[in-house]
Amino acid sequence: MERMLGFEIIGTGHYVPGRPVSNNELARVMDTNDEWIFQRSGIRQRHYAPEGVGASDLALEASRRAIEAARIKPRDIDYIVFATMTPDYVFPGSGALLGHKLGLNGTPALDIRQQCAAMLFGLQVIDGLIKSGAARTILFVGAEAHAGFMPWEDWGALDPGATHEATPEQKHRANKHRSLAVLFGDGAGALVFRATDRDAGLRGMKLYTDGGAAKWLYVEGGGFRTRPYWKHSDYDEQRYIPTMDGRELFKFAVTKLPETARALCKETGTPIEKIDWFLAHQANARINDYVREQLGVSRAKLPSNIDRFGNTSAGTLPILIDEQTRAGGLRAGDLCMLLALGAGVHWGCALVRW
Ligand code: ACO
Repeated sequence: MERMLGFEIIGTGHYVPGRPVSNNELARVMDTNDEWIFQRSGIRQRHYAPEGVGASDLALEASRRAIEAARIKPRDIDYIVFATMTPDYVFPGSGALLGHKLGLNGTPALDIRQQCAAMLFGLQVIDGLIKSGAARTILFVGAEAHAGFMPWEDWGALDPGATHEATPEQKHRANKHRSLAVLFGDGAGALVFRATDRDAGLRGMKLYTDGGAAKWLYVEGGGFRTRPYWKHSDYDEQRYIPTMDGRELFKFAVTKLPETARALCKETGTPIEKIDWFLAHQANARINDYVREQLGVSRAKLPSNIDRFGNTSAGTLPILIDEQTRAGGLRAGDLCMLLALGAGVHWGCALVRW
């Protein structure tokens, strides 16, 4: 079989569930406000998966759109790479569930869990699968249903027609997690990758993991260190909600992302100004502003959609890529730098010729 040079993205799609929930609506279930949330994060609204809807369901909708845009049939896909930190079940991973929903029983599905940095690790896997000849047409999906870890229980109070707010006691319980809760939203992005002998694909990559910083963002409850692995106390003490040290993550991101980007440019001999697009994970608009300023990149080259979706973790980069593709921003031949940092801590960047 002829060896292919690299990959191209032949179809993109995204899906967000339900209606947008504004910052002011969140103030009905926690003590917060639009000004605080927008100033600190750049977020105005987000979406939440309804009860009973999992990451694989969101992924299915996004995948259908990507497959349609690629003008292929699901059966043309010979590998699935699924990224989520909020899977439908503890196991098996959501990739198997998505494959089944697409009618792809028998197609290998690999689940990766690099949280907000998943797209970068996914790219490396996809590049390897394609270069080794193991797969030719790969569906990559990042999907998250974070709603299950939101710290309020009265979802009815968020309804646009609701005549009540959460009680002061309920708000007090949710407040402990408000700096985390306001950041995350649900959604899925899907990309169809195909082997190509066109001059496209991965041009360079730098990936890092530092498990010493895992405690900056992790879920303490529900792990297999304990017997049983799920306890009443995990619920009572809200250990199903992630613990986040936002300040440490923020400082780490604004230091490591520009440093890594510069190192990759040096390694590949790429002047920053030759890069057409900087596609960055959207954890906080202020993080991306810092990164942009430190790299000397214009606002126009680093698109942002965090105001509408919040942080959709593994969903973010594929959603952003779908939006930019459909808007006609990303074109064949463009040189793009992808940047991300996520819980783990995993981080890095990649240079991709579109
Ligand atoms: N509404 C109103 N007030 C709030 C809220 C809220 N939602 N949350 C916190 N506050 C208050 C705090 O109680 C505190 O008040 P105090 O000074 O009276 O004690 C004050 O606001 C400041 O709180 P901090 O948490 O110190 O605020 P900070 O400026 O650090 O911003 C934030 C917090 C937005 C979380 C920021 O640290 C951040 O974005 N960090 C990065 C997080 C991140 O990237 N996470 C995702 C990683 S990626 C992944 O893999 C999932």
